[in-house]
Amino acid sequence: MRVSYILPSVALLASAFLSSVQARDAITESMSSHDNFIVADGYGPDRWGCSFRDSQVHQSGSGTKITIGKDSDLKPYSCGELIHRQENLGYGHYSIDMISSNVVGHVTSFFLIANEDTEIDIELTGLNTRIGWMNIWHDHKQNPISIDLPFDAAEGWHTYSFEWRKDFVAWSVDGNVVLNRSDIATTHPDETNYRLAINSWTQVNPEINIDWAGQFKYPKEGTPSAQFRNMRYRP
Ligand SMILES: *[C@@H]1O[C@H](CO)[C@@H](O)[C@H](O)[C@H]1NC(C)=O
Repeated sequence: MRVSYILPSVALLASAFLSSVQARDAITESMSSHDNFIVADGYGPDRWGCSFRDSQVHQSGSGTKITIGKDSDLKPYSCGELIHRQENLGYGHYSIDMISSNVVGHVTSFFLIANEDTEIDIELTGLNTRIGWMNIWHDHKQNPISIDLPFDAAEGWHTYSFEWRKDFVAWSVDGNVVLNRSDIATTHPDETNYRLAINSWTQVNPEINIDWAGQFKYPKEGTPSAQFRNMRYRP
């Protein structure tokens, strides 16, 4: 619920109730429908070489495919993002199945986001599809760590997850814990509005994160794409 739309006195009561009960609904999305998502259209961070377009977000078999297009009127390329409509997410277990792009500079990600520098992320990049980047953005600072994967993330479906608690964030790949961090604080869920998102975008500026994602160039053949299915949140 958005307490900001309610009269202030009622909002105070409502937020006190929410924080004492911590009532949060689970999310289970096959991602073959986008009804419970906001599909981004017409914007994207300036430092990226792409602008989100709903035309790049496709239903595909049992899930969602996001493609990169060359037809952007705003940036060199168009890319895609979906944000789940449920707001005020909190501690719990978050997971998704993904197939990464293998195109250099193309990023495939699943993340919790409260604002542009408060996030918990899993990111796969086409520069090296045998590693995954696990990141906490807190206090205006990114804290990425790369994890070796026992497979090629572009070759098939794998489950990527993280468990977020007050004292730690633990990431898992196919059910095995690969990283557990208690050294980085996270913003308490009642202090901000965490939402769950996926996106797929291109890195074109060689000065930023060049060793992380690489510099995207549109391939001569084929359409760069990333796939997603089975998004889940268990409070
Ligand atoms: C992560 O580490 C903390 C201790 O720092 C521990 O309590 C917790 O159970 C660990 N989580 C997982 C999923 O391994």
